Amino acid sequence: MGIIKKFYGKTQMGYEVYEYTLSNSGGMEVSILDFGCVITKIAVPDKRGKIENIVLKLPSIRDYETNPAYIGCIVGPYAGRIKGGLISIGDVEYHLDKNDGVNALHGGFVGLGRVMWKALELLEKPYPQIKLTYLSPHGEGGFPGNLRVNVVYSLCENNSLQISYEAVSDKKTAISLTNHSYFNLSGTLEPITKHSLRVVNPKILELDTDLLVTGKVIDLNEIGIKGENTVAVREYMDILQKVTPFYGIDHPFLIENDGENLVLAAEYSHSETGRFMEVYSNLPYMNIYSGNFLNGMVLEGATQYSGICFETQEQPDGPNIPELGYSFLDANTPYSCTTVFKFTIDKNS
Ligand code: GLA
Repeated sequence: MGIIKKFYGKTQMGYEVYEYTLSNSGGMEVSILDFGCVITKIAVPDKRGKIENIVLKLPSIRDYETNPAYIGCIVGPYAGRIKGGLISIGDVEYHLDKNDGVNALHGGFVGLGRVMWKALELLEKPYPQIKLTYLSPHGEGGFPGNLRVNVVYSLCENNSLQISYEAVSDKKTAISLTNHSYFNLSGTLEPITKHSLRVVNPKILELDTDLLVTGKVIDLNEIGIKGENTVAVREYMDILQKVTPFYGIDHPFLIENDGENLVLAAEYSHSETGRFMEVYSNLPYMNIYSGNFLNGMVLEGATQYSGICFETQEQPDGPNIPELGYSFLDANTPYSCTTVFKFTIDKNS
């Protein structure tokens, strides 16, 4: 149990990147880079005790410097798509990077996931913890304010990984942070379509053909998905197609919580290995993304659906859709949120 620090590689600019591996006594290991807060490994036991990495990873630092599929990294300052790459705060319009057609996606061309962070091993807790910190200068990606972001990864004894985000800006700004790990509980790149999924609150935001939210809520109960039902990912995809202009999961689900206490948002499992994962968060949304664009473009051997992301976040395109109730982050005011990924073995497997 503890933290091991290892040299990982050098960036094109010559910065040295380190990989920190947190381990607990349950045999779980989590590896994190001080580049992009990237998670390169979450290794958990299966029902036979076999420990394998269940997140997708890239071969080298060079790949993480481009990382078009955001494999394992932090996403921000604002997760998801922002219509027209434009936000207005007071009388000022901010023009964000348009890196997804005419829209902004995941913080722009660089974002928080393709920069060097500073890592600090925290020693005060009885479990391994690492804190990464980054200062995004005013205007980076088009966002207002010098934004200080801290991300704390904690590996608990009950095989859960807690990710806590803290931020503060010296100007009023828009913020929505998430982690973009792709989970494949089989420990391989086999399509996750046979994994099982239960979303506790099966309500999504309607999407248009550019994957922008319209503001309308769709209750999936009305098309046959109930919060208590666990279904195959493939089945989820088929049902969602009834209300979506594309195939595959890439949908913001509403999480019902009070904004403070963590609630269970989703369960995801793989019957052959018995691995069972729960997602908890105090954020209001979770974009579930089934790797629809993964098709060999970034990771050798990966195909469409080689992994699934649970991107807990603030209101998608919140700054432009007032009815979603997004509040901007005021200047010099602390922001925080937490997500937990917990791993167990399915008792029924
Ligand atoms: C997010 C989006 C997807 C896609 C991926 C990155 O999850 O919702 O549409 O852009 O990021 O490939």
